[in-house]
Amino acid sequence: MKIAILNGSPKVGNTAAMVDAFAEGAKEAGHEVEILHVGKMKIGGCLACEYCHGKGEGTCVQKDDMEKVMPAYKEADMVVYASPIYYFGMTAQITAAMQRVYAIGKPAKAAKAALLLSSSSPSPYDGAIATYKGILAFTGIEDAGIITAAGDENGSEAKMEEIRAFAKNL
Ligand SMILES: Cc1cc2nc3c(=O)[nH]c(=O)nc-3n(C[C@H](O)[C@H](O)[C@H](O)COP(=O)(O)O)c2cc1C
Repeated sequence: MKIAILNGSPKVGNTAAMVDAFAEGAKEAGHEVEILHVGKMKIGGCLACEYCHGKGEGTCVQKDDMEKVMPAYKEADMVVYASPIYYFGMTAQITAAMQRVYAIGKPAKAAKAALLLSSSSPSPYDGAIATYKGILAFTGIEDAGIITAAGDENGSEAKMEEIRAFAKNL
């Protein structure tokens, strides 16, 4: 499978560790993995101008880093969303990237998705999970699983092994 991982963190920290563990497990199982560091990219929010559904024919009027993400949205068999929790949701950067898929409707080939979330406190995940599950229901993509890491779980060998094992058995 071709797997695209969108890492919504703007820094190399806890989410990046989860992403790396996932990539390691997935590659071990023979999958092709591309990591897109959307948290560090300049991606504007959707303008609702409908250019993409008219004259743009699936392309966005905004020429920004979303142009680096769109090819992966078109090619991936699986999309993994990874983000730290910022104020009970995913980061603004990954949220923008998730919404800008509007230009093509949905990740074109993706049949599966997964969600990796990192936080400092134990259970601030409801908002992020509701967004993720809503998008999956809307686009008809199957949830392969959700893994969270709170507080001391971040970077722990047990959590990294859980993620590697999950990615090895997709
Ligand atoms: C702006 C901001 C908002 C945050 N909001 C929350 C929150 O609502 N709940 C929580 O448990 N942690 C919150 N955190 C902590 C991060 O989710 C946590 O440190 C996470 O592990 C960071 O991942 P990273 O190292 O990949 O950036 C927040 C951090 C920042 C910078």
